[in-house]
Amino acid sequence: MKRGMRKGLTSYGDEAFSLYLRRAFIKAMGYSDDALARPIIGITNTSSDYNACHGNVPKLIEAISRGVMLAGGLPMAFPTISIHESFAHPTSMFLRNLMAIDTEEMVRAQPMDAVVLIGGCDKTVPAQLMAAASANIPALMVVTGPMMTGFYQGERLGACTDCRRLWGMYRAGELSDEAIDEVTGRLAPTTGTCMVMGTASTMACMTEALGMMLPGGATIPAVHADRLRFAERSGERAVAMVEEDLKPSDIMTESGFQNALVTLQAIGGSTNALIHITAVARRLGIELSLDAFDDIGRKVPVLVDLKPSGDHYMEHLHEAGGLNAVLRELTPHLSLDAPTVSGATLGENIATGEIVAGQTVVRTPDAPIQGQGGLAVLRGNLAPRGALIKHSAATPELLTHTGRAVVFDSLADLAQRIDDPDLDVAPDDVLVLRNAGPKGAPGMPEAGYIPIPKKLATAGVKDMVRLSDARMSGTAFGTIVLHITPESYGGGPLSLVRTGDTITLDTPARTLTLNVSEEELEQRRSTWEPPPPHPGAERGYLKLYLDSVEQADRGCDFDFM
Ligand code: FES
Repeated sequence: MKRGMRKGLTSYGDEAFSLYLRRAFIKAMGYSDDALARPIIGITNTSSDYNACHGNVPKLIEAISRGVMLAGGLPMAFPTISIHESFAHPTSMFLRNLMAIDTEEMVRAQPMDAVVLIGGCDKTVPAQLMAAASANIPALMVVTGPMMTGFYQGERLGACTDCRRLWGMYRAGELSDEAIDEVTGRLAPTTGTCMVMGTASTMACMTEALGMMLPGGATIPAVHADRLRFAERSGERAVAMVEEDLKPSDIMTESGFQNALVTLQAIGGSTNALIHITAVARRLGIELSLDAFDDIGRKVPVLVDLKPSGDHYMEHLHEAGGLNAVLRELTPHLSLDAPTVSGATLGENIATGEIVAGQTVVRTPDAPIQGQGGLAVLRGNLAPRGALIKHSAATPELLTHTGRAVVFDSLADLAQRIDDPDLDVAPDDVLVLRNAGPKGAPGMPEAGYIPIPKKLATAGVKDMVRLSDARMSGTAFGTIVLHITPESYGGGPLSLVRTGDTITLDTPARTLTLNVSEEELEQRRSTWEPPPPHPGAERGYLKLYLDSVEQADRGCDFDFM
């Protein structure tokens, strides 16, 4: 097998010439022949002035490079797309597949024997795992790590659960303009990813459980020196993985995905993670069943006391022993012989983890945060291919509820009417948002956290049953049904709901029912008109996306991947 600079030569029709030219150009960077003869470890540079979650990437590259060189390899950093949640229009999910393609092709196109992928912000880790699965050269993940918490008026704050809570208070008139301005400077006090159990933290934990990250890497804060030492170790390990030819397809097996799904339920993780892990698994020909995932949730309790399901933040989980402390409690549910990038099995990794006596962040199965896992899969005539609810972050009394539907046809319709004082809405109603799915918005934005109508919020209403084909930030809370599949844009049942219909959510029974007869629905279906095409849909990446994106139950990957 060709290694190093000889890998993947540029096609000039003369291999010796291709190598000669490649070496000529790389020598312009000052490399010696000795350096160029070493195993090459690619390192993805996802640093960007737009991405504070990746603010420590330059330091991580330095540390990974040090590790690679200590082990006798040659580190080579290269840029890829970087995506930050708040700097991606129309939404980061629209770009996840583009980042996956970019990363896969750059890993494949350039000569490298292994790659260290530096991700962090929500969509970056899934995109990189998808890329690693498809490129299938030795690969391991390093995440940027969670940011530290902030303070306002003596209260500890975390992005972005508290972003949403405080914004809700501002909308309800409980915070002044000056106060919300002050808070804006306190919510994200350091670089790193959101430090609650949002999508970034969830994906970091699942990646470690999946075996694609060295043990202990999910929770080290972004600004800790340990994060750099971990990066150095990862660089060293990447060189060894070249010799072992340990590839993503060896690590990401059905057992690994099972371990990741058990972890998702036990940490009260983000709903988004189920879409992402489904996409990663499908790249390797592994189908994850929604119903099997729901079964895991009925057996595996929520053990981690982190916001939004609990009270603490990622730095506290790290102090409590990190993900390893969670995995240790989960051993009856895990495949302990699953391989990992450390070269040891998951069970062997767990056995070497730190035990922190007296910690209270990670509970035991006898005293869980919640008796069942954080996420439940719903089905019914409104969601024949499934929907998801994070019941660990919902209002318990609303988990079984029948209410009158108040329908918003699109994000624009929602923005226009939700705060209208004349909106006909009551606290017991069910807010319905449609045309916000993978093709509908497009990009399946995190709009499922439908705001409580202002007139109800100011009257003290904190939560209502809300449902949509959109996603929701993993940092959000509320009784919110998401990912209704198939989406309304293509004529799914959600497109047939009318204001005034009643909808029943029965979370214990895992059902979501539109209380309208099949005859009436058939009648509505026969007169349904598809929404107008999106502006700009005739060309470019938007066309590729709209032509090819799959539904949530298939991970929203492109159908040709
Ligand atoms: Fe990047 Fe939250 S915005 S992790």
